[in-house]
Amino acid sequence: QVFHLKDYAPTDFVVDRIDLTFELDPAETKVISRVLMKRRAGVSRSAPLVFDGDELTLDSVQLDGNDIDPADFDVTPENLTIRNLPAEATFEITVNTTIAPEANTSLMGLYRTGNIYCTQCEAEGFRRITYFYDRPDVLAVYTVTIISRKDDARLMLSNGNYLGGGNYDEGRHFAAWFDPHPKPSYLFALVAGDLGVIEDTFTTMDEREVALRIYVEHGKEKRAAYAMDALKRSMRWDEETFGRAYDLDIFMIVAVSDFNMGAMENKGLNVFNDKYVLADPETATDADYANIEAIIAHEYFHNWTGNRITCRDWFQLCLKEGLTVFRDHAFSADQRSAPVKRIAEIRLLKAHQFPEDAGPLAHPVRPESYREINNFYTATVYEKGSEVVGMLRTIVGADAFRQGMDLYFERHDGQAVTIEDFLACFAEASSRDLMQFSLWYSQAGTPSVSVSTSWDEAKSTFTVTLEQSLQPTPGQPRKEVMHIPLAYGLLLEDGSEHKGSPSGAGASSAAAGVLHLTRRKQSVTFADVASRPVLSINRGFSAPVNLAMEQSSADLAHIARHDADGVARWQAINDHATRHLVAAARLARDGRPLPASDELCAILTAVAGDESLEPAFRAQALTLPAESDIAREIGSNIEPDSIRAAREAVIADVARAGRELFSTLANQAPGGPYSPDAGSAGLRALAGIALSYASIAEASPARAAAVFAAADNMTVMAQALQVLAHHFPGTGAATDALAAFEARFADNPLVIDKWFAIQAMAPGAATLDRVRELMTSRHFDRMNPNRVRALIGSFSAGNPTGFNRADGAGFRLLADEVTAIDKRNPQLAARLLTAMRSWRSLEPVRQEEARLALVAILGAAQLSTDVSDIVQRTLAG
Ligand code: ARG
Ligand code: ZN
Repeated sequence: QVFHLKDYAPTDFVVDRIDLTFELDPAETKVISRVLMKRRAGVSRSAPLVFDGDELTLDSVQLDGNDIDPADFDVTPENLTIRNLPAEATFEITVNTTIAPEANTSLMGLYRTGNIYCTQCEAEGFRRITYFYDRPDVLAVYTVTIISRKDDARLMLSNGNYLGGGNYDEGRHFAAWFDPHPKPSYLFALVAGDLGVIEDTFTTMDEREVALRIYVEHGKEKRAAYAMDALKRSMRWDEETFGRAYDLDIFMIVAVSDFNMGAMENKGLNVFNDKYVLADPETATDADYANIEAIIAHEYFHNWTGNRITCRDWFQLCLKEGLTVFRDHAFSADQRSAPVKRIAEIRLLKAHQFPEDAGPLAHPVRPESYREINNFYTATVYEKGSEVVGMLRTIVGADAFRQGMDLYFERHDGQAVTIEDFLACFAEASSRDLMQFSLWYSQAGTPSVSVSTSWDEAKSTFTVTLEQSLQPTPGQPRKEVMHIPLAYGLLLEDGSEHKGSPSGAGASSAAAGVLHLTRRKQSVTFADVASRPVLSINRGFSAPVNLAMEQSSADLAHIARHDADGVARWQAINDHATRHLVAAARLARDGRPLPASDELCAILTAVAGDESLEPAFRAQALTLPAESDIAREIGSNIEPDSIRAAREAVIADVARAGRELFSTLANQAPGGPYSPDAGSAGLRALAGIALSYASIAEASPARAAAVFAAADNMTVMAQALQVLAHHFPGTGAATDALAAFEARFADNPLVIDKWFAIQAMAPGAATLDRVRELMTSRHFDRMNPNRVRALIGSFSAGNPTGFNRADGAGFRLLADEVTAIDKRNPQLAARLLTAMRSWRSLEPVRQEEARLALVAILGAAQLSTDVSDIVQRTLAG
């Protein structure tokens, strides 16, 4: 079944209130749902009520307390249909179902993780709990009563404020929760079990005290302290930046070890993958701390962008996700170094979203049809969705953007709305027509912009000509011309910036320093440009596009040295490195000698040694484009081994050129006890990349082995382990370190995940056998999403030479795993499979192997909709 945006229609009945009672039991949980509702005005009196279900069995159903005549209802696992309901009066439907949380391996609906009961309802998990209108535009006030045996679930939590609780009957107790804010079913949550807790409080800007609680497994309480700190900073930030305060008496976070995604913003009761809550210096890296901060903020920010204002239907998913990612990015930029944060975002966008947009799974930020909504929690909806909000801000300017947000919160609080409603607020606040801009939501694919410049010495003018194009994507053969905002600067010979504004189409703008490309092709001209300037364009990645521009290495070096914008400096360095690596990979492919890397080495060593720059920035600059980045630039007929060979050769050149410097930098770790702050993390990042170059220059694992042995925190330890495992595989030093790491962290699965991932990403064909071996290790658990992603996910999405082995064994391994996992957890299986999305850009032999593996999945018995949707689109596109 395919769902279409154009088919949207509101429900025939309007829900007012829902009262849920759970009698918890691992094998037989009784769910009683009482729904107060009435027929929507104007709906025919013969229209039946149709509730959604998923693998449900009905015990009984009542209307106003009386059993409904079997002739008046039909029930299947997917639907409950009731006829002859009152025409005008309000009525109450009671639905009784029995579900088995312990048998629910999909991690959707009510399931067990450890000894805890937990729910995940977004997008369509509520229908696995009871028959209901499981869609985001049905907003209701929830009262929830939970009953359990005291020895089964000491603690019982749900959304909203705690009403009360106590003994229920012999050996059982109850707890009741009331959430006054109307919400859709996907925001419902229930958690029950025996958990440890850390508590704190937060006073809102309007002086209300909110209790804060983070629940974790007993014994892990200390590791939740950083998450609590991040939560309080997020709450303050949303007040200060967007004027948004929290709206219940209590805010709870629960960390669970089996979770399909990162986390979930259930009203007042966020549920988290424990990987994004638990941290201490011994077990978490700087990147883990940064992720925790970002995801805690993200879920908290959903309270306003997602919960108070939600989506009319799932096509509008980016309404809450793109916007909330934009908000969490802004938060992290404020808490840390803004340019370094932006560089990381650009890297991530290009690594995950660009390939998605260029392959068979390409879809608009707001899709127009889907078979399985769970397959649309994508980099396009999230990350490109955030970029689109960022462009909106660039176009209307910071002030109108804030006014538009205020208007959005004011006008749509308590509603389920669309992208059109959202954009209308900014059109109004800025008095701009955003029609052309809105194409960013409907047209898939990454636009290309070609840029050419000419300097007229006699007239002292400088002309910039821009031309856009957008290739067809699945279902969209023809594209319209988009509004592309390009931030720019003209750098003069001495490094200063040309001040004048240009004339010509697209020259006018809300914020200075932005060119608005709104036609297929247009030019602007700058006057009084006495010497040839260097154009720095798409500064800060103001638009998510591919730029094609003939820019000399000298010009890129000029930007890298002088641009006032740190992100633009990094972009120039990265462009230079990419260009060099692509050329080297092409030569390696043809078996020809590689070009000299002197220019790149000079730029990189200059940045590495420039103490006026932030260490984190220097680390970013030194991190060369990944093999997958180079493959993406080459685009077709990819042969991963030659890309790797070329990249390794360039890395060796850089390592040799900066040998002394790298060995100095490798020793410059921050002093004192570990602190996760951005400054210290930046120093560690620089020391880590320097360690890798220094070790390569020395052609010896000794330095990394010493760092590994002396490390007093996980960041440094993992860096050293990776250098050993990736650059000195099979040496005693590498084998010893891997064994020591495993022994030390054997009882901490989240740390063992790092051990899995580092080994799975070791380049080369031999890694496949090691991955097979690790799959039989006692640490591996095919049912746990974190384990699967750490081992199989890292191998298939993070190891181009290993996974894309020419004999197809990597593809077959993935196909076998996807087929096996699909039987128990379709969402996890489908997500893993997206690693195949770029198969058509491989060279013919590998391409054929990939195709065969995909076809083999299709042949498996009882494929889920999740997996069959991904396979079919991947093969078709
Ligand atoms: N809304 C969650 C977040 O981004 C993601 C939940 C997605 N869950 C799913 N089963 N598709 O914060
Ligand atoms: Zn989200």
